[in-house]
Amino acid sequence: MQVFTLYQGSSTAPLSRMQKACNFVRIQQAATLLGQGDLVAFPTETVYGLGANAFSDEAVARIFAAKGRPSDNPLIVHIGEKEDLRRVAISWPATVDALINRFWPGPLTLVLPRRPDISPLVSAGLTTVAVRMPDHPVALDLLRACGLPLAAPSANRSGRISPTRPEHVLEDFENLQGMLLAAGPCRVGVESTVLDLSGPQAAILRPGAVTREMLSPYLANLREEIPAEGEQLSLHSPGTRYNHYAPKAPLYLYLGPREDVLQRMIRDADMWQRTHRKVAVLLSEPVFDSSIAEMVLDMADLKPAGTALELSDEERLRRIAANLFAALRNSDAEKAGIILVQGVPSEGLGEAIMNRLRRAAREVFDLST
Ligand code: TXA
Ligand code: MG
Repeated sequence: MQVFTLYQGSSTAPLSRMQKACNFVRIQQAATLLGQGDLVAFPTETVYGLGANAFSDEAVARIFAAKGRPSDNPLIVHIGEKEDLRRVAISWPATVDALINRFWPGPLTLVLPRRPDISPLVSAGLTTVAVRMPDHPVALDLLRACGLPLAAPSANRSGRISPTRPEHVLEDFENLQGMLLAAGPCRVGVESTVLDLSGPQAAILRPGAVTREMLSPYLANLREEIPAEGEQLSLHSPGTRYNHYAPKAPLYLYLGPREDVLQRMIRDADMWQRTHRKVAVLLSEPVFDSSIAEMVLDMADLKPAGTALELSDEERLRRIAANLFAALRNSDAEKAGIILVQGVPSEGLGEAIMNRLRRAAREVFDLST
């Protein structure tokens, strides 16, 4: 992959005119490639995506081939303006206007009846299409520069963890022909909420940072449960059937009362170390004794547990989401033989975090029962 590293501004250090001009040139080059049917990996606020022209069968087929993705797992289409929704979907319920005014640009994907000119490969043969407007300046500049809706799954090989840092994209796609626009870590860190509005009852197919609590005021008939794996497969989110998020090392997830969980994790870490495996312990709260295994990290800052700042519960969850996939990839990179993870309460953003952890887990130990 050809890597273009973009300048990143912040509220305290905005980009200079020179830096903006450099970024502009690089994004134009990426847009030209997309227009020619090539692949470009780009940052979004959730994870990096691997983009291609959503109107072109040939370009979209390249995505499936590059990822090794089963052709029955549909892709999300990204747009650069709210008005572009009509280029992708053919009709939508009245609530959509309020939803996109409130949550776009942002991590909310809507499943709606598709327009026929979107490549049928994008929808994997379904009559619906998933669409969102990402909240990232590079993604928006790229979408506007190429003037095309871009089909873009997460930029990982199928079965691997979604990339939240440019290095993760290169880990999976070093030798791919295409371009990577590198712009640092993704702010949100878990993939977008997928909301199905194509049927009589709205349903969250995948929880994300736009939470059930945030959506329910807009949706009188929001289905309570996330459809279980295997349920309504071809009709709804075929992708949820695949075990997307697994690191290489087996992951064990612990839930329940704090003291019980920590005690059990310490005991298990000790046991695994006796079998001479390197144990990675990923904690969701600051715990002061980090001597229980070789590698004990607080997921809120990816530093050894016990060194964390005081954080509000909400801020802690936000940071855990932002670091989660990097923590799992790091555990693999550090050659951990086993990964023990402390869960979080499954509310608000915690629902998305727990959804990813449950899928990654070899086994879940729920000590609350
Ligand atoms: O945050 C995100 O959504 C990222 C960034 C790059 O935008 N993208 C992403 O794409 O996570 P991907 O391909 O890894 O996940 C797309 C999910 C899959 O679970 C897929 O099954 C579901 O969206 N999906 C796509 N089209 C669908 C459709 N027409 N009906 C139901 N589910 C659909
Ligand atoms: Mg994915």
